[in-house]
Amino acid sequence: MELNNVILEKEGKIAVVTINRPKALNALNSDTLKELDYIAAELEKDDDVYAVILTGAGDKAFVAGADITEMKDLNTMEGRKFSILGNKVFRRLENLDKPVIAAINGFALGGGCELSLACDIRLASDRAKFGQPEVGLGITPGFGGTQRLARLVGTGIAKELIYTGKIIKADEALRIGLVNRVVEADKLMEEARALANTIAAQAPIAVKLCKEAINRGIQCDTDTALMYEAEVFGECFSTEDQKEGMSAFVEKRDKSFQNK
Ligand code: CAA
Repeated sequence: MELNNVILEKEGKIAVVTINRPKALNALNSDTLKELDYIAAELEKDDDVYAVILTGAGDKAFVAGADITEMKDLNTMEGRKFSILGNKVFRRLENLDKPVIAAINGFALGGGCELSLACDIRLASDRAKFGQPEVGLGITPGFGGTQRLARLVGTGIAKELIYTGKIIKADEALRIGLVNRVVEADKLMEEARALANTIAAQAPIAVKLCKEAINRGIQCDTDTALMYEAEVFGECFSTEDQKEGMSAFVEKRDKSFQNK
């Protein structure tokens, strides 16, 4: 697939995905969503990538939302289709078998905030701004905002943000638990890379199973979730990396994981 709106770069065991429509503040049109879907599929197949960073091109925006120009004249069915497309792509990213870190370098509004919510970890630049301004455009959030925001920050805060459309700064996003950390703008990618490399140095199958267990478990009752935890815990003992990790500990030597 020809990629015009998203860049995929690999740096050792990490991949950096950059939404690249800076003139439109990286707004997500259908083409960009389809490219993101394609990239997610490529990353799913890539056993050499252990962690992913997702960011926006330029210094102004992570993603300023779904593309308003494209949405303006949609009818009911087309609106639903656009939401289904975005939800499908974001869900694929959320379920990617490797952690995705959102490096939020500026505006993360509407679909941009929602994209960050589909990531595992959110690092924000001190210049980042967040919000779900959809009601001001006469629509609801359509790429998961009504669901993931409430699950992350609680229904009260999510409802206030969504009903008012208010835009908050990075420090407020940190206070409500929307982001994991706020860092100086010019250190954002450095911090994101350091975090991604720390994750990439762990046993990749174990990290993948942790992600699966957390993502699945959060959606079911505790007993079912704990049974699933026991299942993935057991699965780890069929991996070479478990033997390696524990042998290295006992033998007091450095470990070398093979993703096997
Ligand atoms: N869609 C399409 N184009 C957008 C865009 C968007 N979401 N956000 C910004 N742009 C475009 C602008 O139209 C402008 O293009 P031109 O230069 O061709 O006029 C360019 O990006 C730069 O934007 P501004 O001139 O507006 O920049 P600013 O610094 O004055 O303002 C901003 C920045 C506050 C982010 C403002 O651009 C803005 O409010 N953008 C829209 C934010 C928004 O409402 N997002 C939610 C969209 S709805 C959604 O996402 C639904 C969903 O859940 C699926």
